[in-house]
Amino acid sequence: MSHSPAAFPAARLRRTRQSPSVRNLVREHTLTVDDLIWPVFVRDGEGVEEPIASMPGVMRQSVDKIVEAAREAADLGIPAICLFPYTDPALKSEDCAEAWNPDNLSNRATRAIRSAVPDMTIMTDVALDPYSSSGHDGFVQDGKILNDETIEALVKQALSQAEAGSDIIGPSDMMDGRIGAIRTGLENTGHSDVMIMSYAAKYASAFYGPFRDAVGASGALKGDKSTYQMDPGNTREALRLVARDLDEGADMVMVKPGMPYLDICKQVKDKFGAPTFAYQVSGEYAMIMGAAQNGWIDGDKAMMESLLGFKRAGCDGILTYFAPAVARRLAKP
Ligand code: PBG
Repeated sequence: MSHSPAAFPAARLRRTRQSPSVRNLVREHTLTVDDLIWPVFVRDGEGVEEPIASMPGVMRQSVDKIVEAAREAADLGIPAICLFPYTDPALKSEDCAEAWNPDNLSNRATRAIRSAVPDMTIMTDVALDPYSSSGHDGFVQDGKILNDETIEALVKQALSQAEAGSDIIGPSDMMDGRIGAIRTGLENTGHSDVMIMSYAAKYASAFYGPFRDAVGASGALKGDKSTYQMDPGNTREALRLVARDLDEGADMVMVKPGMPYLDICKQVKDKFGAPTFAYQVSGEYAMIMGAAQNGWIDGDKAMMESLLGFKRAGCDGILTYFAPAVARRLAKP
């Protein structure tokens, strides 16, 4: 005998939504401060904090200010910080030699944070764009990117970062073969503990615009990056890149940008089970902040909801410019 379908709904899924405590009890995914990596922009000088117009609330800071910021981040429980240098245009060149200068901005900031905030995990970016007069991530000749020559430079850059005390090397350049070459370089120079987080599936995206302003690469960039960054139409290629980078010695992999590529995050985590990260990039940050500043959305809620999406998609962590704001919000009783 079946009961009348009209009598009551067989499954009332609303029952477990009836109060905050029950909702808390049944929640499947949560965002914690342990999930956050905070990308920051370093510039020259002392006591300098310079706002970035397309990234409201984000600043380029001199090394002393970055150290203060890193200390505050550590106090908030943020586990890792990721450094991006804003390089003086006078130091940019075709051979990009500033990239492996032991005393370049990124390496100076690494050493300063390492000594002042020893518990903070430091990630550094490997790619030539902040140092290149062409604005590209690799060497360019006759309008073409020189993959293998670029790799030699990237290895030098990565080793100078490891020498300065970087914990996680983050190659964001998308050249073929760079993970294996960097891993070999690290092993051969006594840096076998240094981790590599590969920007494995990095798409050629319109969402990087504000970042290029932040590091001063927008003016320099000739053409686009679509001969090395991925085509947004591709899924399986992302999985092949992740497989390759893990084989070559990456410890963690990243998908970038984040929000438009949550399907890729999910597939990468499901298929490989490796530590998987997403980069909620500058344009994603700018969209949320821009709408919030216009009063069109609740910025704080949109921030939290956007980051929870990464957890649902299987990410172990997120690089996000919102990191300190999230940490402060999560710390509230
Ligand atoms: C470049 C690099 C980019 C970002 C991180 N590393 C930009 C690019 O590829 O042009 C973007 C980060 C962001 O948009 O927040 N190697």
